[in-house]
Amino acid sequence: MNVENKILKAEKLLEENKQDSVLRILRKLDSEKKEKLAEQILQLDFEQLRKLYKETQETPEILEKKLEHINYVDKYKISDEKRNTYLNLGEEIIKNGKYAVVTMAGGQGTRLGHKGPKGTFKIDVEPEPKYLFQILAENLEKANKKYGITIPWYIMTSTENDKETEEFYKAHNYFGYPQEAVKFFTQGNLPLLFTNGSLVIDKDYSIKIAADGNGCIYKSMKKAGILDDMKQKGVQWIFIGAVDNVLLNMVDPMLIGLAIDEKHEIAAKSVPKNYPKERVGVFCKANGVPSVIEYSELPEDMAEQTDEDGELLYGEAHIMCNLYTLDALEKIAKIDLPYHVANKKTDYMNEDGEFIEVKEPNAYKFEAFIFDAFNYFDDMSILRGRREEDFAPVKNAEGNDSPETAKKLYNDFHAKNN
Ligand code: UTP
Repeated sequence: MNVENKILKAEKLLEENKQDSVLRILRKLDSEKKEKLAEQILQLDFEQLRKLYKETQETPEILEKKLEHINYVDKYKISDEKRNTYLNLGEEIIKNGKYAVVTMAGGQGTRLGHKGPKGTFKIDVEPEPKYLFQILAENLEKANKKYGITIPWYIMTSTENDKETEEFYKAHNYFGYPQEAVKFFTQGNLPLLFTNGSLVIDKDYSIKIAADGNGCIYKSMKKAGILDDMKQKGVQWIFIGAVDNVLLNMVDPMLIGLAIDEKHEIAAKSVPKNYPKERVGVFCKANGVPSVIEYSELPEDMAEQTDEDGELLYGEAHIMCNLYTLDALEKIAKIDLPYHVANKKTDYMNEDGEFIEVKEPNAYKFEAFIFDAFNYFDDMSILRGRREEDFAPVKNAEGNDSPETAKKLYNDFHAKNN
């Protein structure tokens, strides 16, 4: 298509989809910028955007969810016999090269406020400060040594941070991890929409986009050929975890063994809630299928309910420590997970060519959540770990779940276990 036709087609699309403001901006641009913006417009899925925006304008239908407790196994409350069964089953998988690890590093890390990909954040741990990516690499390298293997490591980036992430790995020589075992892939993105439904124009006159949430990892893996690569390598079990938990145990044979023993295709590690109203998503069954329910959705009385041992019935926090068979990932990759809407502050270019910086949320961001995939299975295995061994997230710049709290947990754990 020649340039003129491209622009005409983009204008027509904007008209048809009532994107009048963007149309006016497009018409004012010089030819180079105009062509670039037109190309981006031609790539958009307006039907999907219309649907997503429509959903933001409707009062959400409160679907009555029947919530029930979901069974879990406490790593520290099982017999030695069971422990050995799980360990043997899991170690068989790892030792025979049937295991791979995926790190989700496509998030924006807004709360932490670090400039650059979150994995490039340096945390002041003992004996010397380390990058989050480095901590993960060392953790995997330790497992490689223990089992005499090289675990394939896949890293999901976003269009915003993919270049910087890959360059960072190169500059640091992959933190000593065998380079041929590391593969990057990029997740998808979606345009932001102003609360009036209009697309947002960025400083450089492109349409403003954002990563489409960690739930899009499944489709992104499929699209990037990662699932095929795993199949070719003979991988059967895949761990998917976050980039920002400095105690993340990515190679736990107990988790794999539990899933195999319980004949489940998916599994997850949990840690117990600190207190009933803690603001974390917890595992449960919703309408009979495994789910993670946000703290805001869990009725207060249920949040307090305990079993005969005094344990919270809805107390297993989801810590982004999830395990799947390759078949399960293939199955989920075919499903369109729902998008959740977040209200975001977004700076933008207005029709008069002024860049406007805002202080209040003015736009919608659409994100799929990784745990929504659990609903498509009849059951899953849950292994309860311990915070001091499994969960030290770096989310906020200070206070809870900050570099300070994570550093302490990391130092304490390594002082005990090295
Ligand atoms: P969070 O939801 O905590 O987001 O991500 P975040 O980007 O780290 O931080 P905020 O919310 O902007 O402050 C949990 C995990 O999911 C990944 C993150 O990189 C992190 O490992 N993630 C999140 C993605 O890979 N892609 C996304 O689109 C969102």
